[in-house]
Amino acid sequence: MNAEVLDNKTQVSIIIPTYNESQNIVKILRTISKYVPKNISTEAIVVDDNSPDGTGKIVEEYLKDFKKVAGYTINIIHRKAKDGLSSAILNGIQNAKGETIVVMDSDFSHPPQIIPKMIEAFKQYQCDLVVASRYIREGKIEGWTTKRKLMSKIAIMIAKRGLGVKIKDPMSGFFAFKKNIISGLNFDALGYKFLLEILVKTNGINIKEIPYTFENRQFGSSKLDNSIILDYVKSVWKLYKSKNSSITNEKRGSVHFISKAARFFTVGASGFIVNYVISMLFTSGLTELWYLHANIFGIIASISTNFILNKIWTFEDRDFSRKKTFSQFGKFGLFSSLGALIQLGMVFWLVDSHNVAYPFALISAIGTAAFSNFILNKKLTFKEKLGG
Ligand code: GDD
Ligand code: MN
Repeated sequence: MNAEVLDNKTQVSIIIPTYNESQNIVKILRTISKYVPKNISTEAIVVDDNSPDGTGKIVEEYLKDFKKVAGYTINIIHRKAKDGLSSAILNGIQNAKGETIVVMDSDFSHPPQIIPKMIEAFKQYQCDLVVASRYIREGKIEGWTTKRKLMSKIAIMIAKRGLGVKIKDPMSGFFAFKKNIISGLNFDALGYKFLLEILVKTNGINIKEIPYTFENRQFGSSKLDNSIILDYVKSVWKLYKSKNSSITNEKRGSVHFISKAARFFTVGASGFIVNYVISMLFTSGLTELWYLHANIFGIIASISTNFILNKIWTFEDRDFSRKKTFSQFGKFGLFSSLGALIQLGMVFWLVDSHNVAYPFALISAIGTAAFSNFILNKKLTFKEKLGG
């Protein structure tokens, strides 16, 4: 026996929403129990919406005789009324004990044999989300009408174009993920497209698609009707707005730009003070360095404090991983030196060949250098869009 099973901690939770699935539910639960990995403690959670055909009662009956297989349990959540597939999935997740969540339909369109492959994929590909996909090589659909196929394609196109979703089958209802990737997220859970919400609302997760064949159900009927198509449109619109809330409004974009530039110049001014104080300190008191050497320390100190303040305050970047921070610091230093060169060159050019008075030349040169510095750091060091 496996130690992980003995300590009884559930590792995988399989969420199975049902609405009028009396002809499928027992069979699918039996089949799933054959395929759950034996060394991984697993629970199945049926989420039933008070199905008029008695699906919920059938499950209760089945559970009375269900002999617990080592490491495998089945639970059921009874909801009062039909409240949609996505919301059923969300309810299941909220009650799940496992770290890994698998979501699947109960009508055999999602073959249970794929479950162990999905769980294996987490380790194999070091990913956080595994999507069983009909639209990659070796994946397919059987038994769908041309109309339904076309609808699926259009829905996918909308998700890709409108929401910038990258994977091939964002409409899949068959997927698995590490629960921690959704912690702190709020879900609209409208209609059918739970996966799409995960795709849009998480950042930088690793996704792997594995192929499967979707077979249209043999028993019962699909619950996808026009209201669900409408929910899809609503849900895409909501996601689109939440995704672009900071840039839809151009005014807001320019406010951001100006406030960031103001912070950048404030930091620059603070750097001037640091530079001055450190340079003075090192020429007097304990160290008594030669003033040019002391000035080098002043410059290094002010570049460092400028960098830290700009990273945290101006550009609100809280990622302090070592590699990233060092490379940003390198760029920042480079642009600071570049700024100095621009400033020197411009002062010289204005005073010498255009007879501009030195104070004016200095002010425009400092302004130009500071502004180009801001743009370069915004775009290249902190990888922001220019306008926002
Ligand atoms: N609890 C609950 N409440 N379950 C529901 C509800 C609901 O309101 N609506 C549907 N379900 C359950 C069904 O009983 C079934 O187990 C599963 O959700 C999928 O419903 P179907 O009606 O069979 O969906 P479909 O076959 O048309 O579409 C499926 O496949 C598509 C392609 O992978 C869904 O999984 C889609 O999300 C998916 O895009
Ligand atoms: Mn179905």
